[in-house]
Amino acid sequence: MELTASDCFVDPDVAVARSLPSASFTEPSFLDLELSTIFGRHWLLAPQRTAAELRVDSRSLGELVRLRGSMAPLSLLDQPLFLLRDWEDRLHCFPNVCTHAWYPLVHGPGREKTLVCRQHGRKFDCAGHYLSQPGFASPGVPQVDDLCELPVEEWGQLLFVALGKPERPFATVFAEVQESLRCLALETCRRAPQEAEERIVDGNWKQHAWNYMDTFHLPFIHRAPGGLVDALDMSSYVTELYPSTALQWAYARDPAHGFDPDLLPPRFSHPTKRVFALWWFVFPNLTLNFYPWGLSVNVYAPVPGCPNRTRFFWYQFVLDDEKYARRDAVWLNRQVDAEDVDAMAQVRLGAQSRFAPRGRFAPGAEAGPHWFHRLVYQNVFETGAGA
Ligand code: FES
Ligand SMILES: [Fe+2]
Repeated sequence: MELTASDCFVDPDVAVARSLPSASFTEPSFLDLELSTIFGRHWLLAPQRTAAELRVDSRSLGELVRLRGSMAPLSLLDQPLFLLRDWEDRLHCFPNVCTHAWYPLVHGPGREKTLVCRQHGRKFDCAGHYLSQPGFASPGVPQVDDLCELPVEEWGQLLFVALGKPERPFATVFAEVQESLRCLALETCRRAPQEAEERIVDGNWKQHAWNYMDTFHLPFIHRAPGGLVDALDMSSYVTELYPSTALQWAYARDPAHGFDPDLLPPRFSHPTKRVFALWWFVFPNLTLNFYPWGLSVNVYAPVPGCPNRTRFFWYQFVLDDEKYARRDAVWLNRQVDAEDVDAMAQVRLGAQSRFAPRGRFAPGAEAGPHWFHRLVYQNVFETGAGA
């Protein structure tokens, strides 16, 4: 079933808008469309190295490519890629696919003067330029034999890649995020590898992003007693919407569980209250959740060919060890995650049924979900339609 723009139109006016149709959450053809539009023109977080990989070599992906000439493979949305720092100290990202007959070029972390393909010996320099290959005359080699370079950015310990031309420069997308964090020494955060940093969970990737942007469900899914709403001063809850990022934040019910005010810009200050968390969403599928204990990162990655499942990444970076040890007791991290994952499994059953109409948005309470649905619609059908 091919969904058209009129099937999916999300009105800019929240008062009359309807959600994206349920078929856009279940149809493989719509996921293919999203992968070639949304996921081709936005900055995507490169997966961190797994706990098992770190046991063999404790360096992060960024550390593996710190030295000139160093390289490391990675996989992003099933696309084989590699990072390479050239001898002028510029970081590059290339498809890990030889331009001759598609053999992988980089098989593990390493450091080389040139890249030599193991299948038929094609050679590239560290900027991805074709150099030579046995059986081919070198002069007049067409440009097309160079590796195709993909945009890459380093942001503290996190690396971002775009699988096509990004809609907006990285610094523009992250300007508001950066401003809110300028007092936090994020570079010094310690990665705390977990065993289950990557899970396949029920539900389309958009369900998880929509749910993240949904404040409306807090008093229901994360209800009192003992739920997240108990830990928050809900009357202070704010959602700020930017072109492709969104911030949700609230004061803690108990100021002892909030940020030291010196760690946040003055706009978050209050004479007696303290900020519980800054929850940043970066379109299309990244969340950066800043707590007094550190940073929790979630990625809702689509599973190509499988619209009803999401590859759910969860990374944690520690700012304060003592608070980190209390993250589940005070900031309810594990409990909220379990409640959300369960809710999404329930919603998935509804989305897959024949009885899921296009819903409406409560104008005063669902600006965030409406913003997300509208961005999906615009990205798939307007911004780069046919790109
Ligand atoms: S596939 Fe790389 S040289 Fe043939
Ligand atoms: Fe939730």
